[in-house]
Amino acid sequence: MTDRTHFRSLGALRGALRAPADKSISHRAAMIAAMGEGETDVVGYLDAADTRSTLVAIQAVGARLLHEDLSADARGAADGLGAPNLRIAGVGLRGARPAAIDVGNAGTLLRLLPGWLAGQPEGAWTLDGDESIRRRPVDRVADPLRLMGARLTAREERLPPLEIEAAPLHGIAYELPVASAQVKSCLLFAALLAAGETRVVEPLPTRDHSERMLAAAGAAVRREGDTVVVAPAERLEPGRIVVPADFSSAAFFVVAATIVPGSDILLHGVGLNPTRTGLLTILERMGAAAIEITPKGEEGGEPIGDIRVGHSELVGCEVGGADVPLAIDELPLVALAACFAEGTTTIRDAAELRRKESDRIATVTDALRALGGKVEATADGMVIEGTGGLRGGAIDSHGDHRIAMLGAIAGAASREGVEVTDMAAAAVSYPAFESDLVSLQHGPPLRDPVH
Ligand code: S3P
Repeated sequence: MTDRTHFRSLGALRGALRAPADKSISHRAAMIAAMGEGETDVVGYLDAADTRSTLVAIQAVGARLLHEDLSADARGAADGLGAPNLRIAGVGLRGARPAAIDVGNAGTLLRLLPGWLAGQPEGAWTLDGDESIRRRPVDRVADPLRLMGARLTAREERLPPLEIEAAPLHGIAYELPVASAQVKSCLLFAALLAAGETRVVEPLPTRDHSERMLAAAGAAVRREGDTVVVAPAERLEPGRIVVPADFSSAAFFVVAATIVPGSDILLHGVGLNPTRTGLLTILERMGAAAIEITPKGEEGGEPIGDIRVGHSELVGCEVGGADVPLAIDELPLVALAACFAEGTTTIRDAAELRRKESDRIATVTDALRALGGKVEATADGMVIEGTGGLRGGAIDSHGDHRIAMLGAIAGAASREGVEVTDMAAAAVSYPAFESDLVSLQHGPPLRDPVH
């Protein structure tokens, strides 16, 4: 039976927490550790459904988990991280075993893993997943991989299941038709196994975790302007990978505190890679003046910091172009914030939202309208007429974790509350989301109020 959960305003959000580990970096940590020589320790691997799928996948191709204690995912550790919660014995760059792989709901696993598998010396693999995964395009990785010499077959040429047969690869120069970090990362993995150099040109900057992590593991990866250049590699030696808190998870509370009057919250140890934090730039444009960042150095080659957020009155703004890949998973939250703003917000150039865990132009528009928002869907985005707030009502997550959490935050900020059907979807990236929200709704005032 599908669950129904009610969220309502209990007034200001207060208190401090550490958001769960970064999902993008956790997926990459497991895959790069599997490609690595010997043992890799991962500190703060995300304990969530998506990243568990990746652990199952890497074991299917022969990697071994020598130690696994995902419940110790560093949450609660306000200052620094603890011991590794995962030790992975890799199979080496060219040692993946044949397997049928269930990627569950994990699009990142579906798009990245084929790059590594396609260039193996021998073997065959099938990648398939849940109902939502079966709607998500794989031609975006299959097409360029074929140009490198890969042998792949997809259902109707573009959808999972994806079948891969090992083949010798060669480097290519490829201009990404969409600004996608998943496609870029897939090609960077394949490039390690290809003969000659591979060059991937990005139309706009996208998240660069793969580049940072591959370089840290010893691969020859360099950036030349808008191009990432990778040389073939004999071996990877990741050694130890540290995962910061996920900006995309913290983002729900950044927006919640911004739109709920009186709020004052502190989010610890959040990954602040500038290819991920476009939401902060957009909120600043909307007039959010009560967001303070305290840099705390680096974790695992990624900048981290604490984010303190208080309430602000917002105004509508224009979002498009280079904003989009830098805030791709946060655009639903931009639409929510825009409902609380004065004036019109227009989101453009974001047709990619239609290819996420749900068609997020449709699901966000339907959800916010059901709660009293004035939102129109366009082919490549949304137009939101801010009315200063939301009434509330009922929404369905459509099995999309970010829509479930969007509904909960809308509930905490609405006048009448929001009922979310299938809140359980949040476990894909943030299993403790509900209890974290409740803790901020009942939290003590922070010491040293700055707002
Ligand atoms: C991701 C990249 C983004 C993002 C997804 C995770 C990644 O997808 O939406 O949630 O880990 O590389 P695209 O790169 O396809 O836009």
